[in-house]
Amino acid sequence: MSQTDPLLPALAELVGADGVRSGEAIALLDPGWHPDNLGAGLVVYPRSVEEVAAVVALCHRSRRAVVPHGGLSGLAGGAVSRPGEVALSLRRLDRVLALDPAGATLLVEAGATLEAVQAAVAAHGLDPGIDLAARGSATIGGLIATNAGGIRAFRHGTMRQRVLGLETVLADGTVYSDLAGVLKNNTGYDLKQLFIGAEGTLGIVTRAVLRLEPLQAPAATALLGLPGFDAALALCARLRREHPARLLAVELMERGYFASAERALAAHQGAVGIADCPLYLLIELAADGALDVPEAFAALLGAALDQGLVTDCVLAQSETQRAALWRLREDSDAPGREFADRLHFDVSLPLAQIGPYLGRLRAGLDGLAPGIAVLAYGHFLDGNLHLTLGADEPLVPRHEAVEACVYASLAGLGGSISAEHGIGLDKKAALAAHAPPGKLELMRRIKRALDPEALMNPGKILDTPV
Ligand code: LAC
Ligand code: ZN
Repeated sequence: MSQTDPLLPALAELVGADGVRSGEAIALLDPGWHPDNLGAGLVVYPRSVEEVAAVVALCHRSRRAVVPHGGLSGLAGGAVSRPGEVALSLRRLDRVLALDPAGATLLVEAGATLEAVQAAVAAHGLDPGIDLAARGSATIGGLIATNAGGIRAFRHGTMRQRVLGLETVLADGTVYSDLAGVLKNNTGYDLKQLFIGAEGTLGIVTRAVLRLEPLQAPAATALLGLPGFDAALALCARLRREHPARLLAVELMERGYFASAERALAAHQGAVGIADCPLYLLIELAADGALDVPEAFAALLGAALDQGLVTDCVLAQSETQRAALWRLREDSDAPGREFADRLHFDVSLPLAQIGPYLGRLRAGLDGLAPGIAVLAYGHFLDGNLHLTLGADEPLVPRHEAVEACVYASLAGLGGSISAEHGIGLDKKAALAAHAPPGKLELMRRIKRALDPEALMNPGKILDTPV
């Protein structure tokens, strides 16, 4: 449709001919992590907030839906676009605009990647307080739209806690700009929180003011093998007590995930050489001028080994070894590839419930169909559990039953069906089935109020018409 799309000349007038891709040029673009992201067959690349607003206003006048695109690393289908829609990429809006070192805040455009922001503020001894494996492609706007969490959430919160000020382009092209750079801002409803995590269904994020944290350099990285979750809880309680401000990462890999990750990376790096254990924690501590951190960590680990909280451990002796340990955890798409079929989930639970939940899940899946492997990993200290379920039989025909099994006990345990990947298209049915009473209707009322024509990323989170 897009080759003869009547909107093309008007779009080109707004953003320049080189700011519009359609027709055969689409095949040259990288669709990112979902094969249907470029389904619209038309992508527009505005260079300024004004151009974003003009494109959205044009789409509004023409009753054309707009699908915002950031780094296209989302895992819930939130950037999928269909013929007739206009994909609006924020990639050219990628400037780091103003750093306030005294207040530790940063004004940045939505299309800047997390990695670019990390590098820009590191030069001033600061850090955005958020980190995740897709840092090289994920953009600030996408992180905000999906309320990303990642590795540091247990210390610094998710994007909801990182954003001080926000600017969004609303459905009719109006720019709503509240770029306050202060933590204390009690001025009625906290409207920015409406747009954070809304996945572009209420507006398009164009700029934000982020809070920054002091940059911390890693001083010690270790992979620990543990006998079980009770030991992990006891060890983490001690780490939090003794190193609250030095703890950079506590990432979880259960036995099945870890073994599969080692096999998947075997050609790339040798085995770690750690004992076979039910679960592993990848722990990183930051340098501290007042303390010999590697020595303190080694002492803590020695005591934990004596107490039986830790069965085996490998301390990274070089940056290469540190990177190899991290790769096992961050290349999370590789484990489970050996199965004929896989399903992925992203749930969260109160920390102490992770072990019991996994026990129940395995029992439930065994009852459903023996032979479904559960590869569990995640961001341990904030209770975020990623699950790859693998089987040699096709899982898709049993998707609903498997999903019901994964989600069944979460609400009772105080957990959530979507921890950090969002709802998009993929989790919409699950949200409809598991949302607290009244939530969907309240969300629909907000959606109708802000986007009555349902033109903002329609069909994501909520079905259209709402
Ligand atoms: C990770 C992604 C899957 O933590 O969220 O690796
Ligand atoms: Zn994650």
